[in-house]
Amino acid sequence: MYLVVSIYNFCYFLFQTYIMTEHLRISGMYWGLTALDITHNLHKIDKEEVLSFIKQCQHECGGIGASILHDPHLLHTLSAIQILCYYKALDTINVEKVVEYIKNRQKDDGSFEGDKWGEIDTRFSFCAIASLALLNRLNEVNIEKAVSFIKSCMNFDGGFGSKPGSESHAGLIYCCLGTLSITGHLHIVKADELGWWLAERQLPSGGLNGRPEKLPDVCYSWWVLASLKILGRLNWINTNKMINFILYCQDAETGGFSDRPGDMVDPFHTLFGLSALSLLGYTKADLKTINPTYCMPQYIMDEMNLKPDRLD
Ligand code: FPP
Ligand code: ZN
Repeated sequence: MYLVVSIYNFCYFLFQTYIMTEHLRISGMYWGLTALDITHNLHKIDKEEVLSFIKQCQHECGGIGASILHDPHLLHTLSAIQILCYYKALDTINVEKVVEYIKNRQKDDGSFEGDKWGEIDTRFSFCAIASLALLNRLNEVNIEKAVSFIKSCMNFDGGFGSKPGSESHAGLIYCCLGTLSITGHLHIVKADELGWWLAERQLPSGGLNGRPEKLPDVCYSWWVLASLKILGRLNWINTNKMINFILYCQDAETGGFSDRPGDMVDPFHTLFGLSALSLLGYTKADLKTINPTYCMPQYIMDEMNLKPDRLD
């Protein structure tokens, strides 16, 4: 009887988790598949099932939603394109329509809205520019204006926020540097000031936070370290302390990583923990090299001949 109740509870838990994560399904697939690829395990997933699901998430307007019948959004459009690049299967979706969808999201000031409802954020600039670069269609939007919008989000400390006047935030710094590295405009960045601000995110525990006075979090190991790597200043933090913090966030039973030691693990922090270890050149795990701009395995970038800029 106890076993039956336990199995029932477990199935209910899985079902509940499945429903509760539906709004981020395609991005969740990108986090999981990327983590599997850099740990040499991508082949364990059924490729055809993934491609068929993505195909069903594209809308008539060209945009891709988080799940079947979910509204299209640039965030999930980028995740879908990234996954299709892993499988060399961009022809699964209607590329002309997706390009049109992304093009239609650019505003007069060069910014991008995330979806037709109009929220503006530099993370959507990154999603649009990275998606178009992966499709080899960057020429479809106004790059000069896109860069000028990113420039208007630069703060006195060298950092970037979500829109003009918003405080510097490591996640958005990653998005802005990513956009500038893809479009070849890293020269507009105050690299030393920004490198210093990013290096100051390291706390005595070795972990990194995303803004002053915040707690450390493994996902910021990615947003901050990838930004430092793009700036050519990855050695501005203490690598050993950083690695130890990330390793403390791994759960010995499930293998997943959490935001900070002792918390519940999830695929998002697992990807960024592994990717940060890869960036740091951690050799005790056999991790593939990750590209700091796209957060995709470097061999995929090489195959696609994509070379986003970096500073030395
Ligand atoms: C923190 O957000 C993270 C960001 C703002 C960056 C998000 C970047 C993307 C969605 C672009 C796609 C990314 C990849 C890797 C391809 P938060 O809302 O959790 O911030 P908080 O920690 O301040 O709450
Ligand atoms: Zn986090």
